[in-house]
Amino acid sequence: MTRASWRVSLLAVCLIYLFVAGACSFKKQYRENGHKYQDISNPKLRKKLAKEGKYLVTVASCGSCHGDDPGDPNSPLSGGRVVTDNGRKLVASNITSDLNTGIGNWSVGEIVRALKASISQGGKKIASGPHLGYSGLSSADLRAIAVYLKSTTAVENDLAENSIQTGKQLLVGSLFPSKVTSKGYTTTPPETRRGEYLANSVSNCKACHTPEERMLGSDKAFSGLDESLLDSVQRLPGAREDFSFPVKGPNVRLKNSQVWDKDSLLKFLSSGAVPGGSVVAKVWCPWPYFANFTAKDKNLLADYLLSLEP
Ligand code: HEC
Ligand code: HEC
Repeated sequence: MTRASWRVSLLAVCLIYLFVAGACSFKKQYRENGHKYQDISNPKLRKKLAKEGKYLVTVASCGSCHGDDPGDPNSPLSGGRVVTDNGRKLVASNITSDLNTGIGNWSVGEIVRALKASISQGGKKIASGPHLGYSGLSSADLRAIAVYLKSTTAVENDLAENSIQTGKQLLVGSLFPSKVTSKGYTTTPPETRRGEYLANSVSNCKACHTPEERMLGSDKAFSGLDESLLDSVQRLPGAREDFSFPVKGPNVRLKNSQVWDKDSLLKFLSSGAVPGGSVVAKVWCPWPYFANFTAKDKNLLADYLLSLEP
């Protein structure tokens, strides 16, 4: 062999080695976590999904419960805030990618299942209240959210596990693991329905702006609590020292509203300011998260609320 061809072969061997080593380390990283990652093994696709997921996690205000500082959309999702759901006190979990104290060893499918069907990694039931609205997220969006959560910086924060089920439920659950029932959109809806999708499923405005007894009637969704009730429920001193979920807000069916128009609604979504000058407390309505909506999404969301008959 000539010198030149030796060099070429050596270079080829090096390249092959680098390629194989790269592929192996990539595979190892994901096999280690016990995942079936075949569908997202392409790093470019993962990066794209993580970016989409980050946007969704922000405007879905996951951090308003899971955030280290719930008022700051950039704070790590290391959990700890106490949420009251149906009278039970629940600690919002650490959902950073930490392997031991977060959800770093959950698969994408397990995270999707938790949001869609309120089932935890081991098949255990978790509280369904906090995530009810998200069960209407499209499969593509849920997957993007899961991929993003797995890409976050790990933060160690060991929290006590909530226990919301009886021994019998545990046994039944482990014998007959629940399947994910798919309700709502499985494909992300077209732009004509995006405003509705954002309000109902992504940002879950519906959860807080609809009294429980009206949840089932879609004509009453977003109709809020009566002002008198709002006062008694929420404005009690200290009523919101933690976070009573679902905390109830006022009527946001805004067609023909005397107070709200497109401009004021867009302003609210960016700054929490309501017409007249006051600013809604961010621990009540998570507007710092909504401020991250793209201009287009803000518009579609505002148009949707302004189209709802009072
Ligand atoms: C209203 C408060 C609230 C919001 C908003 C919220 N969560 Fe949660 N989440 C909780 C609570 C409380 C738990 C613990 C439930 C339990 O243990 O029964 C939880 C548990 C979880 C779990 C299971 C973690 C584990 O270790 O068991 C995941 C995953 C999760 N949330 C993801 C999300 C994502 C993603 C979002 C946004 C799309 C979100 N959550 C929004 C309150 C919330
Ligand atoms: C975690 C519960 C929660 C979520 C989620 C939520 N809100 Fe609110 N919102 C509230 C509460 C509580 C108030 C009332 C605060 C007050 O009275 O100061 C409020 C106030 C408002 C107001 C001011 C209404 C008025 O008449 O003063 C608007 C507008 C509003 N929210 C829109 C939205 C939109 C749009 C979304 C979804 C993108 C949303 N909210 C999601 C709890 C929530």
